[in-house]
Amino acid sequence: MGYQTIQVRKLTPVIGAEIAGVDLSQPLGNQAFQEIHDALMENLVIFFHDQELTHDQHKAFGRLFGELHLHPTSTRKDWDHPEILIIKADENSKHVAGEEWHSDVSCDPEPPMGSILYMKELPPDGGGNTLFANMYRAWDTLSPAIQRLCEGLTAVHDGAQVYGGRFGQTPKEGGFPRNEHPVVRTHPVTGRKALYVNRNFTTRIAGLKKHESDALLEMLYRHSETPEFQCRFAWRPNSIAFWDNRAAMHHAMWDYFPHRRLGYRVTVKGDKPFLRA
Ligand code: SIN
Repeated sequence: MGYQTIQVRKLTPVIGAEIAGVDLSQPLGNQAFQEIHDALMENLVIFFHDQELTHDQHKAFGRLFGELHLHPTSTRKDWDHPEILIIKADENSKHVAGEEWHSDVSCDPEPPMGSILYMKELPPDGGGNTLFANMYRAWDTLSPAIQRLCEGLTAVHDGAQVYGGRFGQTPKEGGFPRNEHPVVRTHPVTGRKALYVNRNFTTRIAGLKKHESDALLEMLYRHSETPEFQCRFAWRPNSIAFWDNRAAMHHAMWDYFPHRRLGYRVTVKGDKPFLRA
């Protein structure tokens, strides 16, 4: 793809690209916006370095791509930016956000299309990378017989397993989100099919016996976590990663305890996953 206003350097042939030549704190022209969008569609996750953004500029960049999402567990009273999720780990952490493969908030009825994480502090001795996996590739490389089976299936994605379970949070009124989505979804922009189950949120395949569901999900997880479908991003302070939750999963490496890592995430609303026959 030809880009005029930005430079795009692929991290791997499969997923991920670094973008240069743009200052995200400034208003973007139509062409720069379109090229950033195209680069995201082409590479599933894009990375920017050396960005100096206020929280308002971070939100303004996110809003170019859609309305901002409010996290179902966000209740902080001491924070003026409910649309920004603080991603923090330090010596007191028992768990960290994203330490298991997932697509963000896939338990929501309309899970987010994308997430924009702005990294400010990193551990002193390295670590704290984020891994991303191409779920189109995961789908395309399944055997046709397994694809036919999956095309008829939906799976339950349950926030209680993550927020109530691992993080021990108390749900807001109405409980944690729990929704059923197709096991393979059609991307609303590219029209491509992407596998859409993840270890974090998916609890079972609807309509199957538990042992059948467990076995099928485990096979799909192991397949989608194949290293050849992945890239691994080494953050620098002031880097930004923008990923497409409809086509990619990610996994935050927590290999730096007890050190501190701090970032801010703006999340862009998405639509209801569907499968076009
Ligand atoms: C997340 O948004 O899932 C966290 C990713 C990260 O901390 O690298």
